[in-house]
Formats: sequence, structure tokens, C-alpha cells
Amino acid sequence: MAGTDEILVLKAKIQELLEKAENAQVLERLKAEILEFISSEENQQAIAALRAEFLAAISRAKDSHTLDQVRIDALGKSGIITSYLGSIGKLPPPQRAFVGKTANEIRAHIEEALEARRLELAASELTAAIDARAVDITLPGRAQQMGTRHLISRINDEIAEIFLGLGYSVAQGPEVETDYYNFEALNAPPDHPSRGLADTFYVRDLSGAASAVAGESDVLLRTQTSGVQVHVMEQQKPPIYIIAPGKVYRRDVADPSHLPQFTQVEGLAVDKGITFGDLKGTIEYFCKQMFGQDRKTRLRAHYFPFTEPSAEVDVSCGICGGEGCRFCKGTGWLEIMGCGMVDPNVFGYVGIDPEVYSGFAFGMGVERIACLKYNVPDLRMLVEGDMRFLRQF
Ligand code: DAH
Repeated sequence: MAGTDEILVLKAKIQELLEKAENAQVLERLKAEILEFISSEENQQAIAALRAEFLAAISRAKDSHTLDQVRIDALGKSGIITSYLGSIGKLPPPQRAFVGKTANEIRAHIEEALEARRLELAASELTAAIDARAVDITLPGRAQQMGTRHLISRINDEIAEIFLGLGYSVAQGPEVETDYYNFEALNAPPDHPSRGLADTFYVRDLSGAASAVAGESDVLLRTQTSGVQVHVMEQQKPPIYIIAPGKVYRRDVADPSHLPQFTQVEGLAVDKGITFGDLKGTIEYFCKQMFGQDRKTRLRAHYFPFTEPSAEVDVSCGICGGEGCRFCKGTGWLEIMGCGMVDPNVFGYVGIDPEVYSGFAFGMGVERIACLKYNVPDLRMLVEGDMRFLRQF
């Protein structure tokens, strides 16, 4: 392809030729041919410049996005090379083939350069991506945190194990209960404070006109697992030896010794000839299994509506060994459960003859037992979900 200087020399020569032309006709023909020639040279020059420009842009492109932009500028629908090729049609026929051929060659050349650069960039971008996500296999592995069972579940199971070993089985009752099972059939007098709205969560009956309950609902979240005694005795004839673990609910504000939801384990034994001695022996055995052979137990007379006589059970303090300390409030004893002999009135509700059968019952708070066993000063720590605390058990 001719350079600019060569074209100038050429132009001068042509000028000379024109001046020497013999007649006007020859002159006109010469002029036309020369014009064509020059424009063809110019075309080639322009294409050459474009080619150089695009090849430089291609090798300058640092990433595939920039490279793609170069491709669009050159060969896209309204790219320079494309529109150049499109305008060839307007050239006079003698030049059209020549310019067209050159332009097509350049297009092929640019396409080739684009593809080569694309492969180069793809390879280096892949390497960079791999490097960025590289795993350092020399780093020590991250140990998987092993989960632990929640202390409440563990104590629950420990209690169950002890009683299963004595031949008891596990019974279950509903958490949403009626007044009848939670209070009435357990011989609780109508004016018993726990029946009040201040102590019990009542479930509002929203069933409308068809509701059998006028005013205050008789449906509630059970306040104790003792109701399971009634369910079991309704369905099963003695001998009965069951424990009933489960959640209970009370309208209490959480503090170190109260939770609005907690866990109880109820126990019930009904058989012929069951005495208070059996109750005492069972409780003592349980306490030694749960807290250790060196712990003593004592029973204090108490009142529960559904047992007669009733007692509260204390276990000797594990911190001071019975001497008296802050944990046991100076008494040397910690209260752990309520118990007593099943009241004949309760047998009356379930159709068990108190002249033939007798029985004992007991009920304990699982959270409280957990805290006493591990000297945890505040019940709320069990339900806060702080893993630093829970992982210790
Ligand atoms: N249900 C009683 C409470 O929640 C605990 C209890 C006391 C259960 C004496 C019993 C029992 O079975 O005999 O405080």
C-alpha cells in the first residue's frame, strides 16, 4: 500500500500528465481515472489507519469487557469497519472490488486478533479467579462444634431413667387443659388462688355463638402436670406406676426462682397396700440417685388439695453439706418437690375404690433440680440460650 509521500509524488506526476494531454476528451477521461485512483489510495490509507488503531486497542485491552467494547466499536452493527464495508457499494465499480477485498481482509485480521486476545484474557482471568478463591491447605482445619443436649432435657431423662429402673412407665397429657383436669378432679377448691386469672393463663374461646363457655374460659395452659394423674387413672386400672414429664405454664414474671414456663415431672403409684413408707422410700432412693449417696432427705408437712397427708421434700444442701450457707438461705436444706398420699376424693373422680387401693403422688420442677444439682443460682440461665453456659453440661 502506498504511503502519503508516494501519493504526493504520484499526484505531481499526474498533474504533469494532465498538462500534456492532447485534447479535451482525453483530458476528461484521464481526470476521471486519476480521481478514482486517488480516492482508492485514500480509502486504503484510511483502512490501514483504522486497522492499526484497532489492533493497538485490542492488545491494550486489559479485560474481556474492554475487549468486547473494542469489538463492538469495530465490528458491531454500527461499528466503524462495518459501516465502512457498507459504504463500499457507493464507490465506482472499478474500485469497489479492490477496496472491498482489502477491507474484508482487515476485518478478518481484526477478528483473528480479537479471538487471540479473548483466549489470552480468558486464561488469565480464570487464573486470577482461582487465585482469589484459593484454599490454603496448610492452614489448620476448623473443628466442628459438637452440639450438647440441653441441661433441662438431660435432667428430664435422668429422672425418667431412675423411675424406669423402678418399674415405672412414662405417661403424657395435654398442655392445653380444661379446668376439670387441672383443678376440679384434683380436688382443688373453687376459691383456690391458683385458679385465679392472676396465676393461670386461660385460653380464650373464640368459637363464637356455639361456645359452651360463657365468660371466663375453662380452657387453660396447665399449671401443673398433676392433671395427667387424672387422665391416666381414667384410662387405666391399678396397679399404676407412672411418671409424667412435661411443660407447665404460670403467670409469673421470670426471676431467679420463677419462670412463666417450666418443666415438671409428676409421679403416681396406685396399688393395693401402698403406704406412706413406700412414698418415703421411693423419694429417698430418687434423691440419692439424683444428687449422690451422701445427700439426706427430709419431709415437711404441707398442704396440696389432691394428697392427704401431703409433704414437701427437702434435700440437704450440696454446697455447705447441711451447715447452712447462702445457697440454702442458711437452713442447710433445699426444697425439691411436693408429695403425698392420693386423696380419696381424687379416686372418687376416676372411679377407683379407695377401700381397695391406695397410692402416692409426687411432683418436681426439672429446672429447679438442674439448678440444685449444678449449683446454678438463677433459673433464667437455663432458658437464655447462652452457649457458654449450656456447653458446660
Ligand atoms: N403439682 C404440684 C405443684 O405444681 C406439685 C405436687 C405436689 C405434685 C404434691 C404432686 C403432689 O403429685 O403429690 O406445685
